[in-house]
Amino acid sequence: MMLTIESRRELQAWSDGERAAGRCVALVPTMGALHAGHLSLVETARLRADRVVVSIFVNPTQFNDSKDFDAYPRPMEVDLAACRSAGVDVVWAPRAEELYPAGAASWVDVEGLSEPLCGGNRPGHFRGVTTVVTKLFLAARPHVAVFGEKDFQQLTVIRRMAEDLGFGIEILGAPTLRESDGLALWSRNVHLGAKAREQAIRIFESLALAESLLARGERSTATILEAVHKKLGEATLASIDYAELRDPASLELIAEAVEGPTLLAIALQFEPDRSVGRDAAEGLRGERVRLIDNRVLIP
Ligand code: PAF
Repeated sequence: MMLTIESRRELQAWSDGERAAGRCVALVPTMGALHAGHLSLVETARLRADRVVVSIFVNPTQFNDSKDFDAYPRPMEVDLAACRSAGVDVVWAPRAEELYPAGAASWVDVEGLSEPLCGGNRPGHFRGVTTVVTKLFLAARPHVAVFGEKDFQQLTVIRRMAEDLGFGIEILGAPTLRESDGLALWSRNVHLGAKAREQAIRIFESLALAESLLARGERSTATILEAVHKKLGEATLASIDYAELRDPASLELIAEAVEGPTLLAIALQFEPDRSVGRDAAEGLRGERVRLIDNRVLIP
């Protein structure tokens, strides 16, 4: 039977009991609004551990825009049902005051890796992520924690943090789940109007294009990025936040030539699709949707 726990102390006691009994505990941190992508993280956790904890907490400190935080979906009952059918052992849904008590002033910051890509356009975002993930780790005391490879930079930053702080937690990356046309699964996809949804596929096509250029022997970063930008430019409702080639471990820019495994990371920002009248109908007018995706290219 699945347990639903709110208090941190109760979770710690449960986890200590599991550890003492010699069982391996996995944590899947989420912000709720669970979709098939999250459930595949649960599946990865279940294959690796005896017990799976899913945390559901919409973390205020990783949002740059309070409107975005307020609008974040919180379908708790639906999420609980999804966890139950996925065989989750414990759902931990802490209250904000427990993770951020009055006067909270402590942060965990991973320098360097948190700064480029999503960190450039969302100052403080990764500091919010690493701080909350530290709190989740300290409460759930897992042996293993699972994060999606779709958020490649987040995974890299958390791996660094776990290593630096000696958490003794194995950080597992789970492959990105995709819609049938290649769009990476994400809770915000539903906010795309029909035209934006059709254009969002340019991201996947750009990743595939870069891969095929590399397969044909192209190594010049300038040539590959020019082709990627051209393809992304076909998404006329969107603007490119970034499309960059970086070292997958250090996240440093690859200057001239792709010589080893190279991360192609993309973020596209879609303006609301007013052409179909859907945004107004669903109260989404004025909302932007920022999509990210990536692929590690192997020359
Ligand atoms: O990837 C997410 O959903 C969030 O950034 C995380 C890891 C749950 C921290 O709030």
